[in-house]
Amino acid sequence: MLGYTTLIALWSTGFLVASSAAECSVADVSVIAHTGDPVGREEVYNEINLYITGNTSDTAVLYLTDVFGIQLPENKLLADSFGRAGYLTIAPDLFNGTPSPVDINGTGTPGFNTTAFLAAHGPEVTDPIIATAIDYLRTALNVTKVVTTGYCFGGRYAFRVLAEGKGVDVGFAAHPSLLEDAEIAAITGPASVAAADADSLMPPERRAQIEALLLDTGLAYTLSLYGGTQHGFGVRANISDPEQKFGKEQAFFQAVRWFDTWA
Ligand SMILES: *[C@@H]1O[C@H](CO)[C@@H](O)[C@H](O)[C@H]1NC(C)=O
Ligand SMILES: *[C@@H]1O[C@H](CO)[C@@H](O)[C@H](O)[C@H]1NC(C)=O
Ligand SMILES: *[C@@H]1O[C@H](CO)[C@@H](O)[C@H](O)[C@H]1NC(C)=O
Ligand SMILES: *[C@@H]1O[C@H](CO)[C@@H](O)[C@H](O)[C@H]1NC(C)=O
Ligand SMILES: *[C@@H]1O[C@H](CO)[C@@H](O)[C@H](O)[C@H]1NC(C)=O
Repeated sequence: MLGYTTLIALWSTGFLVASSAAECSVADVSVIAHTGDPVGREEVYNEINLYITGNTSDTAVLYLTDVFGIQLPENKLLADSFGRAGYLTIAPDLFNGTPSPVDINGTGTPGFNTTAFLAAHGPEVTDPIIATAIDYLRTALNVTKVVTTGYCFGGRYAFRVLAEGKGVDVGFAAHPSLLEDAEIAAITGPASVAAADADSLMPPERRAQIEALLLDTGLAYTLSLYGGTQHGFGVRANISDPEQKFGKEQAFFQAVRWFDTWA
């Protein structure tokens, strides 16, 4: 044990500050990029375009985007942040180059048919794209564990790939949309959820149902509610707003800590 005087002396030299930052890099907001240029690369594997970022690691992050796809800079930047947190991260192009210009809740370009978009990108189309990305991680990059982080549209699939035999070990989802009860009941690995307090796609009643379904799985789980946030905040928070900025950053740390702990 260090004596009190020694601690004060170390503190005054800055030693403690430096060492605690090194041991606790997960709380280091500098790994998160909200703006700037993405640092990853794109590669095509079995006809699926993948955004790849971060250095080689035994456990890789499968990043499943919202309807704006890997084409949205914020998605690439957040994937890069998982890279800087120590995880090789890949994000498949879920919409084959043609993401939605409109959020799933209908905000945005008038006249865009969200119903038709979602119908064209159901599980029968999306599951195989994600399976290709998992195959790439496991057979081309030889990673031993795959964890997943999903946002809105991708949040549902973060649950779907946690089912038996899908090849993903641990999951996190921020404001998942269209998530079905059976998809929660089918998971076989720990799941963590970040929720917004203003989310018409996941209102308080639905949040309570999701909590109950997570409890029923008997697996490790957590659900965190971030005040002052809206649907989409995990990726597209207004970072000029202190509550939204905190929510986005804390949801990121929630995911990283979840992976560090359970993978
Ligand atoms: C990847 O490794 C290189 C060389 O060690 C290092 O400079 C770089 O910061 C690492 N990148 C990430 C995202 O961790
Ligand atoms: C949107 O697409 C759905 C499904 O394809 C279709 O039934 C509906 O008529 C379309 N709505 C408009 C306004 O075009
Ligand atoms: C992965 O393993 C295969 C088979 O052992 C090997 O051919 C390939 O070079 C490995 N890839 C990487 C990135 O290590
Ligand atoms: C949809 O989500 C956005 C944030 O992404 C929010 O500003 C808007 O109020 C929401 N619209 C509805 C109808 O819930
Ligand atoms: C972002 O948040 C700031 C601070 O609350 C606010 O002034 C600004 O209008 C917001 N921007 C958008 C696009 O909502």
